[in-house]
Amino acid sequence: METILVVPAVLYCLFFCCMSSTIPKTVQSATFEVENDAARHRVTCTLQLRQVFPRMFTSMVELGVNIDHIATVRQSRKTVEPDPVWAAALAELGGADGITVHLREDRRHIQDRDVNLLRETVRCKLNLEMACAEEIVKIACKLRPDQATLVPERRQEITTEGGLDVVSQSEEVIKIVKRLQDRGIAVSLFLDPDPKQIEAGFKTGCDAVELHTGCYALAETGKKRNAELRRFQIAGEMIVSAAIRLHAGHGLTYHNVLPVASIPNMQELNIGHSIIARALMVGMKEAVAEMKQLLRGYVKVS
Ligand code: PXP
Repeated sequence: METILVVPAVLYCLFFCCMSSTIPKTVQSATFEVENDAARHRVTCTLQLRQVFPRMFTSMVELGVNIDHIATVRQSRKTVEPDPVWAAALAELGGADGITVHLREDRRHIQDRDVNLLRETVRCKLNLEMACAEEIVKIACKLRPDQATLVPERRQEITTEGGLDVVSQSEEVIKIVKRLQDRGIAVSLFLDPDPKQIEAGFKTGCDAVELHTGCYALAETGKKRNAELRRFQIAGEMIVSAAIRLHAGHGLTYHNVLPVASIPNMQELNIGHSIIARALMVGMKEAVAEMKQLLRGYVKVS
């Protein structure tokens, strides 16, 4: 009886190992860098294999959902809805591995009240994006999110533009990383895929690097996108070989996320705008129907 079970299991393992080792890494990760017929054929084969053996290609990448835009809508009326705390709970129900919020110095969207409530209610990873500003560092040390992501912050920007410049402020960043880690907070640095910045990032003792995918997201041609992907792959290899967690985020959408998710050893993606935009659309029909239902029975008096 045992033999009957063991033989197929061993055969499956052997087949799995063979297939994993014979398919080149770049094709396994399906980066869609289809430059010639041979490569195109390999990608097609991989996609077919994915359908037949989905477990072989199961990605372990974690999804952090950035809910800043829920707060942006609330702050546009300075009212109480929509509440980012509700949104976080729903995102968790949807399977989010993390909730990400950016407590900006100007408090344009997320407020202190939000981060305090989120600290109490979020059950998955709470990731606080923050500038290297003393006021915010003090708040983070008190709040103790699971992870803090250090980002650059400029008052006039619409959203975070570019990665943190660690090279020009390495001593300050080293001190902040230590202060946060001393409070049990894992620290991630939001960096461009620039080897100089990444080397400087290593020296801070950070736990993770989040690669800034904004340029990739904005690339207008496949050639430019592939060039950006190559930069991520090189940066990713540097980060992983330094035993630091590899994250990525910014501008990722339902259309452009897969090649980034497929970068070898990618562990976490932080996505906000695209998910919130989709949530508005998939929820619109229901919200209008609920209002119509409420109004049903109220007859217009002429
Ligand atoms: N990662 C970081 C460090 C960010 O600053 C942002 C935007 O707040 C995101 C990820 C999410 O970007 P997007 O809203 O474009 O998905």
